[in-house]
Amino acid sequence: MENFNFYSPTEFVFGRGRENESGKYVKKYGGSKVLIHYGGGSAVRSGLLDRVKASLDAEGISFAELGGVQPNPRDTLVYKGIELCRNEGVDFILAVGGGSVIDSAKAIAAGVLYDGDFWDFYSGRHVEKALPIGVVLTIAAAGSEGSGNSVITKEDGLLKRGTGSDALRSRFSVLDPELTQTLPAYQTACGATDIMAHVFERYFTNTREVEITDRLCEAVLLTMVKETPRVIADPDNYDARANIMWAGMVAHNGIVGVGRSQDWNSHGIEHELSALYDCAHGAGLAVIMPAWMEFVHSHDVMRFCQMATRVFGCQMNFEDPEVTALEGIRRFREFLHSIGMPINLAELGAREEDIPLLVEKLGLGEDGRTGGFVRLSSEDVREIYSIASRASL
Ligand code: NZQ
Ligand code: ZN
Repeated sequence: MENFNFYSPTEFVFGRGRENESGKYVKKYGGSKVLIHYGGGSAVRSGLLDRVKASLDAEGISFAELGGVQPNPRDTLVYKGIELCRNEGVDFILAVGGGSVIDSAKAIAAGVLYDGDFWDFYSGRHVEKALPIGVVLTIAAAGSEGSGNSVITKEDGLLKRGTGSDALRSRFSVLDPELTQTLPAYQTACGATDIMAHVFERYFTNTREVEITDRLCEAVLLTMVKETPRVIADPDNYDARANIMWAGMVAHNGIVGVGRSQDWNSHGIEHELSALYDCAHGAGLAVIMPAWMEFVHSHDVMRFCQMATRVFGCQMNFEDPEVTALEGIRRFREFLHSIGMPINLAELGAREEDIPLLVEKLGLGEDGRTGGFVRLSSEDVREIYSIASRASL
């Protein structure tokens, strides 16, 4: 096991009706003038936004509002938010929505306290300070409610880039599973896929003997395999929603990655898809992650066998372990298909002809390679997109 720090300072406020306490927690964490940031309308339609406002009113906290965050959030709205916060003297940002809203809130929070262009933070500059943020989560997916990360798309050139800093971690995050019951099945499945991908990015490691972290990863994966079909079949199943919501946080606040190297190539390769086609991040991962697995499995066949046997219930073939490894990947893809996810580029709405452009836009490291489990060249990435293009059940 490698040395590590684990820092997760967010207060998680979990359970039915807890969004009505938002005002109380904003006050606890020092907010006196709040920007309520939200998305394209689901929080308005469900009445959630009104409940959150009532809870701020009850604490005597004034607020401004900025809605309209779109999935794969854009830099243009971030600039608007920064200006609004400065004009209104905002000292706390409350994100009401999913990963896109939270990430946009984080970008605004960092940008308000910075003299330069906030995009610098998405081009390599580290965020040292940011306005405090709070979260009322409406979809279990990105894990931004517990992470220090934010991903924004620059409209000019459709560049999707991320940043990470402990300064961006939410002070509190309200997780009410009931709020996710209004999600369309497709969005629920996209979220589930993203949660599993956050675990796999950490599970496929070159660090040996981190049993505790392996087992935590497998606990989250097994939970997702069990609970996702239940909520797809029965969207109002509170307990299944609750397990998924907490799994989404655990998958990405860092705890299932401690003590080991991590990969993150599937995320990097996917981000080019959601940047170019504006598809849901989870749907892009459903297409890329199994293709990445097929491409790299021979690097450590036994690790893929571990996934296959422990998560997908495969029988171990000791004479030919590769059979087991490939069967595990096949079952993962089949699972994704069963919950309604696309399994190849065409089903995602992406074009094979764009593969050279996708590869060109992907930022590779200084050595011309990317990722932590297997360092991929641009040629390797091209092959992964090609596998994703050919994939079938
Ligand atoms: O905008 P509204 O109307 O709210 O609709 C949203 C949106 O269309 C809808 N939705 C959310 N909650 C709902 C609901 N509809 C009905 N009922 C509800 N309760 O769902 C759609 C998707 O929302 P979005 O916030 O985009 O989803 P998600 O949480 O998956 O966030 C995706 C973004 O997060 C980034 C992704 O790249 C993508 O840009 N990620 C952020 C990470 C982080 N900050 O740590 C890590 C991830 O790997 C990921 O890259
Ligand atoms: Zn993700």
